[in-house]
Amino acid sequence: MNILVTGGAGYIGSHTCVALLEAGHSVIIADNLCNSKRETVEKIIDITNKEVTFYETDVTDEQAVSVIFNNNKIDGVIHFAGLKAVGESVDLPLTYYYNNIVSTMILTKACKKYGVNRFVFSSSATVYGENKVPFVESMGLLPTTNPYGETKAISERILTDIAKANPEFSVALLRYFNPVGAHESGLIGEVPNGIPNNLMPYVTQVAKGKLEKLRIFGNDYPTLDGTGVRDYIHVLDLAEGHVAALDNLKEGARVYNLGTGQGTSVLELLKAFEEANGIEVPYEIVERRPGDISSCYADALKAKIELGWEAKRDIIAMCRDAWGFEKNYKDFVEAK
Ligand code: NAD
Ligand code: UD1
Repeated sequence: MNILVTGGAGYIGSHTCVALLEAGHSVIIADNLCNSKRETVEKIIDITNKEVTFYETDVTDEQAVSVIFNNNKIDGVIHFAGLKAVGESVDLPLTYYYNNIVSTMILTKACKKYGVNRFVFSSSATVYGENKVPFVESMGLLPTTNPYGETKAISERILTDIAKANPEFSVALLRYFNPVGAHESGLIGEVPNGIPNNLMPYVTQVAKGKLEKLRIFGNDYPTLDGTGVRDYIHVLDLAEGHVAALDNLKEGARVYNLGTGQGTSVLELLKAFEEANGIEVPYEIVERRPGDISSCYADALKAKIELGWEAKRDIIAMCRDAWGFEKNYKDFVEAK
């Protein structure tokens, strides 16, 4: 199939392009590069030895999106393009609502016009709010504490309603848990803007000596060791989950958790990182981070049954590959 991948130069999008190309699909990337670099597209080509069509396009621009649909025979869309910084979304709500929701509407409108009936959407486990773990797809959505989370919940509702009214339109709403790691080549991975907010990129930057020590946000949660528990998933497993979702689209809009089903605490992740890479990571315990929940992990059964997909890579592989990219990325930047 010819797949339009919006946000395909980004972290999850680039790994998914690799997985799609390796599965025999063709890829057309549309990305405005607001949080990624053109070179990532070259890296995707280097890794796979396959061609990629690239449009430097803002997918909220209806005119520019029609050019892509006009010039290519598109069989399906995977919509990653979006802004994702939770804190920034609180300061810039309109920017977030506009970018993340209008893009979804423009793309679905183009799908309708050009008869494209396969659509895969990047949602987030954040839509579960403070439900009880493990999070199951059948749970009701709870309000999130920030505009970013709301854009995901609203986009899910829009896509569900469109699929209801157009039975030929099939949608997979994929709720990601915590993507970490990188392609094992070390060529593509996550490049956070400024000081990282998320745990794994913070750990790799401490390991590199770029940051002094990890601050662990609270050790008084009701978890096995008091630190927060999350369902970390290797970005390559997540990428393969998209190929499985695309290949197994069914009538209507269906929701799938993409997680491992395993919770890992901050201290456990730190220990795994040290074991995988033989590097000590200094840390201190500080106050809880406002807005954090204690535990978040998936019930991963539905994706296994309906998509025939499950995560294969363990926490050691995630830590090894995250570090592999950080090291390589440093070399790459210094060599320039
Ligand atoms: P990313 O920032 O690395 O990738 C997003 C890409 O979209 C970037 O390349 C950016 O330049 C592009 N983009 C943004 N707005 C655009 C627009 N209007 N037009 C064209 N391109 C645009 O982020 P990511 O981590 O790869 O996340 C991909 C998707 O998955 C996002 O929708 C994000 O909200 C969602 N998600 C991410 C996580 C996570 O932890 N990384 C978790 C849950 C959901
Ligand atoms: C973040 C996002 C969430 C998104 C999710 C998946 C925020 C507030 N939430 O949540 O919307 O869906 O990523 O990408 O950004 N931790 C530390 N020290 C650090 C960083 C994190 O102790 O420097 C802890 C956190 O308290 C948490 C765990 O590590 O217990 C994971 O944190 P993080 O990587 O930010 O992910 P989420 O909290 O799940």
